Amino acid sequence: GKSGYDHFMLKEINEQPTALRQGLSGRLDELAGRVTVEELSDVETPGRVEFVACGTSYHAALFGVEALRAADIPAQAFLASEYATGPAPVRDDTLVVGVTQSGETADTLSALREARARGAETLAVTNVVDSSAARECDHVLYIRSGPEIGVAATKTFSSQLVALTLFTATLAERGGEDARELVAALRDLPNHLQHVLDESRAADVVEEYLDSEAYFFIGRGPAFPVALEGALKFKEITYEHAEGFASGELKHGPLALVTANTPVFAVVTGDDERARKTIGNVKEVEARDAPVVAVTDGASDVERYADDVLEIPETHPRTAPVLTNAQLQLVAYHMANRLGRAIDKPRNLAKSVTVE
Ligand code: F6R
Repeated sequence: GKSGYDHFMLKEINEQPTALRQGLSGRLDELAGRVTVEELSDVETPGRVEFVACGTSYHAALFGVEALRAADIPAQAFLASEYATGPAPVRDDTLVVGVTQSGETADTLSALREARARGAETLAVTNVVDSSAARECDHVLYIRSGPEIGVAATKTFSSQLVALTLFTATLAERGGEDARELVAALRDLPNHLQHVLDESRAADVVEEYLDSEAYFFIGRGPAFPVALEGALKFKEITYEHAEGFASGELKHGPLALVTANTPVFAVVTGDDERARKTIGNVKEVEARDAPVVAVTDGASDVERYADDVLEIPETHPRTAPVLTNAQLQLVAYHMANRLGRAIDKPRNLAKSVTVE
């Protein structure tokens, strides 16, 4: 049942700290500052990694690409439906990773079959034990989220981010990289997430934007998939127009849509070049009178340019997206709730899409 929650979605959002503890259990060696993922011990170190996935899982795959590239491992993500009908060339050292919560998404299975037929090693990153993806791939990494009932993927996305972080750290450690700080951040992540869930101001913030024309989400680097996912969740359950953009793309077209009636959710963590550049983009939307909601760890001065702030604790760049995304999950949930939408069963959508 819904254990007292109005919707499975809210229950599952609140289950995330537990889901992450399950996903990390036995997979961190805090003393040695290493990750220890048994399922990956017999996966040969690939020369390049290619992800295939759909929807929310594709956003997790984009996060995986960003993480692998930061560890100097060439990586690319494909929409499974595109890969299935136009597969990429497979080299000897290519590992194709299917990211699929259900393990039953037709497009993803079809892409993985194409990859195998071309001689690629395959790895399934999935939640469902013994699912088709788990059975058909050479290797499986279980995300251990527990069952997800709400059509909108929430806790499984967070668990996918963590699983892909463990996957990346496993490969990076083989290349001699030190994972000590990341291991500490992963250890603290369930508590940080609990803090975000307990303290979130998302329910108040949405009150101010109930009648907007459209909702935009921007981010750069690891915040880019968070922006895409924030917009997908939002449109899926509110039925309002929402779009996610890489911050830098705004001025290449989408800025034409920005008005005083289109709130922009800007995901900005850290205080590096990326943060500074996104703040530049925030100033551009401000100049068009758009309200700005900053989703931030407070490391930069983005708050100075924002009408509202949704805060997360400071953490590692690899773990911040889990926390910023949780704020945007709550934004989508509370907006949909205020608009009286069928949150657990949005129109036209199914939990698992078993046709291509
Ligand atoms: C959105 C959502 C979908 C799924 C997509 C892939 O909330 O749930 O976009 O992410 O249909 O599903 P899986 O991960 O089962 O392959």
